[in-house]
Amino acid sequence: MKRAILAALGLATGLAVPASAEEEIKVGLLLPFSGVYAALGNDIEAGFTTALEQFGADAPATFEIVREDTEVKPPVALGKAKKLILQDKVDVMAGIVSSGVLGAVRDMVHGAGVPLIVANAGNDDATGTACSPYITRMSFSNGQVNRPMGQWMYDQGIRKVYTLAPDYAAGRQMIDGFVQTFTAAGGEIVGQDFTPFQKTQDFGPYMAQAKSSGAEAVFVFYAGGEAISFVKQYDSFGLKAELPLYGSGFLTSPLYVNAQGPAAEGVITALHYVPTIDSPANAKFVAAFQAKTGRIPSEFAVHGYDAGRALVEAVKAGATDRESLANALRQVRFDGPRGALSIDPATNNIVQPIYVYETVAGEGSLTQKVLAQLPAEADPVNGCEMAAPVSN
Ligand code: BEZ
Repeated sequence: MKRAILAALGLATGLAVPASAEEEIKVGLLLPFSGVYAALGNDIEAGFTTALEQFGADAPATFEIVREDTEVKPPVALGKAKKLILQDKVDVMAGIVSSGVLGAVRDMVHGAGVPLIVANAGNDDATGTACSPYITRMSFSNGQVNRPMGQWMYDQGIRKVYTLAPDYAAGRQMIDGFVQTFTAAGGEIVGQDFTPFQKTQDFGPYMAQAKSSGAEAVFVFYAGGEAISFVKQYDSFGLKAELPLYGSGFLTSPLYVNAQGPAAEGVITALHYVPTIDSPANAKFVAAFQAKTGRIPSEFAVHGYDAGRALVEAVKAGATDRESLANALRQVRFDGPRGALSIDPATNNIVQPIYVYETVAGEGSLTQKVLAQLPAEADPVNGCEMAAPVSN
């Protein structure tokens, strides 16, 4: 499968792996490099290339990356996925930040039989009713991150909650995951709003509704630019002291928590990764990522890193083409910065621990104090009927 050098591809990036390697794996990186999730895309890419450099040096292949900007627009992303598959003839794709984008490209990926390593988008359907042997998720699912928080908040004595999230697949699924377990424990949802995605500048009217709802706490999902605005406005609206703010951990991601500043202090959220996890694998990752970028890694960076590592492991296991890569990817398991990771063969979704953390003042910047580590649980199959594994 030796290929011509990708010099003709304007966006191709060559990564140095052994010069004598016989195989060349062409990777299509589908990420938002513009729009509200641009910073997330950049962190995922940096994590991905860190892993190829760290783990790929002794792989029996070279990796060539063709990167495409999905923005946060499903139709744009579908066009870019088609280009990568049909024109660039990539062996494997990685990336995708938005659940809406993942929903849009799913049929194309499945129909073409191109393995996709999901490096962010949590769309529950992609490892549920719309699962595919070609889609392996190395990030999280929307329900997985939020379900543990329902029981945990109930256990802290909270009984009445108001929820807010952007009105698209991820917002709805994240809130559903939380609501399921919070109400099953005996809690009450006293009100909900879904704010227009990528269009809401002023969250004040929604905060006013939450304030008058009788809630004891607010639970939200926001990410990227919307998370920065929301957390700052929640504080300046004077709500933080009166109505404690909880959410999925994307709300106070290390990627942008310092842009939120003191407004983020005391916010309690849950996520599958924080850079303060105390383990040798995380220390190694934090050091490598910091050396490369000068930044503390975020959950987005770790998705990219683990996606890159999964690709390298699949290649080291002998995979060389679309089918063998798809088969090998769903079998990867390793101890990474987040802890022990594996892929559930029933859904191709990752199985991983969840951390509840509080954003607190650190030395010169905000940091993440882990309050609880909740056990790894495989998602319910959610209607996934995994097709027979593709043949090697
Ligand atoms: C999503 O659309 O699935 C998503 C986007 C940003 C952060 C987390 C999830």
